[in-house]
Order: sequence, then C-alpha cells, then structure tokens
Amino acid sequence: MNPLAQDATAAAKRTELLSDKIVINGGKPLRGRINVRGAKNLATKAMVAALLADTPSVLKDVPAISDVRVVTGMLNAYGVTVTETSDGELTLDPKNVLKAHFAKIDALAGSSRIPILFCGPLLHRLGEALIPDLGGCRIGDRPIDFHLDALRAFGAVVDKSYEGIRLTAPDGLHGADIDLPYPSVGATEQVLLTAVLAKGVTELKNAAIEPEIMDLIAILQKMGAIINVEPNRVIFIEGVDKLSGYNHRALFDRNEAASWASAALATGGDIFVEGANQQELMTFLNIFRKVGGAFDIAEDGIRFWHPGGELKPVVVETDVHPGFMTDWQQPLIVALTQAQGRSVVHETVYENRLGFTSALIEMGADIEVFEEGIESISRRVPRRPLEQAAVIIGPTPLHGADVEIPDLRGGFSHLIAALTAEGRSTVSNIGIIARGYEHFIDKLEILGADFVYEG
Ligand code: EPU
Repeated sequence: MNPLAQDATAAAKRTELLSDKIVINGGKPLRGRINVRGAKNLATKAMVAALLADTPSVLKDVPAISDVRVVTGMLNAYGVTVTETSDGELTLDPKNVLKAHFAKIDALAGSSRIPILFCGPLLHRLGEALIPDLGGCRIGDRPIDFHLDALRAFGAVVDKSYEGIRLTAPDGLHGADIDLPYPSVGATEQVLLTAVLAKGVTELKNAAIEPEIMDLIAILQKMGAIINVEPNRVIFIEGVDKLSGYNHRALFDRNEAASWASAALATGGDIFVEGANQQELMTFLNIFRKVGGAFDIAEDGIRFWHPGGELKPVVVETDVHPGFMTDWQQPLIVALTQAQGRSVVHETVYENRLGFTSALIEMGADIEVFEEGIESISRRVPRRPLEQAAVIIGPTPLHGADVEIPDLRGGFSHLIAALTAEGRSTVSNIGIIARGYEHFIDKLEILGADFVYEG
C-alpha cells in the first residue's frame, strides 16, 4: 500500500497538532518517491461548485490540507453534508442548503480566500450571500474589486458593512458582458460559478485559462453547464435552469509538484513525484532544464533530480498561464542560490511576493530585491506597475538559521532552504504549510530529511 494513502483525518490532525516548529539538520539530499493529489486551487473551488447542484457530487483525490477543511466547514454551515467516503474521496450533498449565521461563517473562513467564491452559488440558492473579511496569504493587497464588479454586472447588490459584505439579488441574476482588467484566476472562477445558472448568456473577456480553471469548467460541464472557451481568453457561458451533481477526479497539484522538484534540485537530490503530469508543468520543466535540473517523464509521474555539475542562472518572469506561475518562483529561488552566476526573477502577478527572500539572505544567500521591479531588455511579459524583481547571485553556501514562515509558498521555500543549508535551522509557523501541502511532514520523512519537531 502507498505509505501516503493513510487515514487523511489522522494525518490532518497530526499536521494541525504540530508544534508549529521544526528543527532541521540540513545539507542532505532529499531522495525518494512521494505522491501529489488534487490541486488545492481546484479542489476547493470544485467543492464550492457542488452548492450549485440539486443532487450530490463526488470529488476524488482531494488532498488532506487545511484549506479543504475550511471549505468543508463552510459548506457544512450552509447545510451541505460533506462525507469522506474513502481516502481522498468526498461526497457533497447540497439538498438541504440553508442560511448560516454570519458569525459562524466568519469564524470558519479563517485564513482562506475561498469564501468570496461562495457568492454566486449562494445568491442562486438562497438569494443572499454574506462574506467575511478575507484572509489568504499576505502576498499583496489581494483586493476583490474584480469579483464585486462582476457580481454587480450579474445584477447583485453589494452592501459593505463593518463585519463584511452582504450581497442580494432582488431581481435574480442575469447574463453579463464582463471584461476583466487582468486575467484573474479568482474573478474568472467567480464569473463561471455565477454565470452557469444566470439567465441568458455571459461573455467573459480577458479570462484566466489556468489548468485549474479548465478543470473547473470540465466539472461544470459534467453538471450540465454550457461553457465555450474561445480563442484570446474569451469564454461564453449560456445559463441553464438547473445543474446536477458531478463525479470528478481533481487535477493534480502542479504547484506542489514544482515545489518538490525545486527541493530535489536545491538539495542535490532525486525525487519521483507520483501523480505529476507533464502537460500542466511544461513551462516549469523548461526552466528546470535551463537551470540544469534533470527530469524523466513516466506514465505515473515525473522524476526530478540534480544530475551533478554546476547549476546555471536564469531570467524568469512570473505570469498568468501558460507563463511561469507566481507560485513556482519561491522554491525555485532557493535552487537559484546554488546556480553559478546572476539570476533574475521578475514577479509580475503580485506586488509583494518576494519578502520571503529576507530569510534566505539570513541563511547566506546573495539576493537583492527591487521593490519597483527592474528594466530588462528581453521581456516577454509587459511590465506591470506593481511588479518587483529579485536578483540572485550564486552559488552561495547556505547555513542554518531561525526563520519564521510568512506565507504558504514562501514558507515552503524556507523549508527547502533549511534542508539545503549546512547545520541546524529552526523553522517556525510551520502550520501555514499545511494549508496547501498534504502530509508534508510524512513526505519529508520518506525523502530522508533529518528533522525533529519542537514545542
Ligand atoms: N486582483 C485584483 N482584484 C481582484 C482580484 C485580483 O486586483 O478582484 C489582482 C491580485 O491582487 C493579483 C492579480 O490580480 O495582483 C492576480 O490575482 P488572482 O485573482 O489571479 O489570484 P487569486 O485567485 O487570488 C489564485 C491562487 C493563488 C495563485 C493565483 C495566481 C487560489 C485560492 N489562489 O489566487 O495561489 O497564486 O491564483 O495563479 O486559487 C497559493 O496557492 O499559494 C496561491 C496564492
């Protein structure tokens, strides 16, 4: 039996109970085989989609992560029963949807940004949605203006109060023409989850087309929706009267796969990531190869390893799909500290997603962050006003340090840095990683990491 196919609830509890601190003796290559399951950024949205149906849905390969538990709690509060029918398989029954107390939702939403995506489904099912202040990782302002503008275009009335946002739809929701100022993942999901049951046709321009969005569209189609993805980021949605439950296996987590790949490279290791698929990782694989990493694509996953010799520097710009994901740069930067020469990472999606590098600098990395971004002669992404850039000069040996995890992806990069560094590191706030990395402690054990928990 796959050692990771264990009782998800027990593992989740174990992760939750973690002392929030991990002491790592680094400098040892990570080697072994681990698996990745459904994507955090798809599974949670697919769970919300179940609210739109009049019959139960079944979602497979759901990872045991805390963001899934947050959405489960919220769905429960709205009367949707969520049952784990087997390991990683959830049955979501929406037949008794009911209004929930705001205080309860507020408490349950915790640090997640998913609650905003409940708006459309709740307006369809209950005629009202109450959304608390949103959490999520501290990686920029992360406004919700695109979401609210889109919901207004569908006919929703938005009232902001001190406790959060109240939405109503006195005349029901109708199809709309929406042109997003930026191909936002969340706003595209908002439009999809609202338009499928709105009266009439919705035209969405400048839509995000990430693989997780395509998987959500596949789910909605299984439910009875009519959605046409046209060239040039245009999506047409013809509203239907009702949707039924779906049965779907979630797309694998490409961010987790890329994180372990970078961990293999940074630590000079060799990791087979079961469940990883080439298609959704193509852009990552190109950069991984340019840096000097080796990979081998098998039917059941991808092996990533450091083939020996020097790593090479790269210039990378994060971008929307099919570009290099913003969630891939943090672990990669750790590997770039070991490359021979000057690498540049332009962060063009979020305005504050390089703060995590200060811990790497403390560990001996030579990284300079340019808060206003830097000009570059060979740009493929047009410069955005909010961008930043990091210049990484390597190779620099990393040494152990005490670091505190700031956010999910930055936190995982701190873990990798501690595993790469010679000596002892204490990484605190480790619970944040459980938001998006299933059984990561077990995986570190499997990969031969030398670490202990500390209270
Ligand atoms: N934006 C606005 N207004 C909005 C919405 C977005 O200005 O109303 C801006 C954001 O501030 C940002 C840009 O648009 O500068 C892109 O944001 P987007 O809406 O695409 O991101 P998101 O939906 O909030 C999801 C993932 C992120 C991932 C991004 C980009 C989830 C729950 N989160 O966020 O994942 O980085 O798309 O692909 O799906 C993570 O997994 O750690 C994570 C942060």
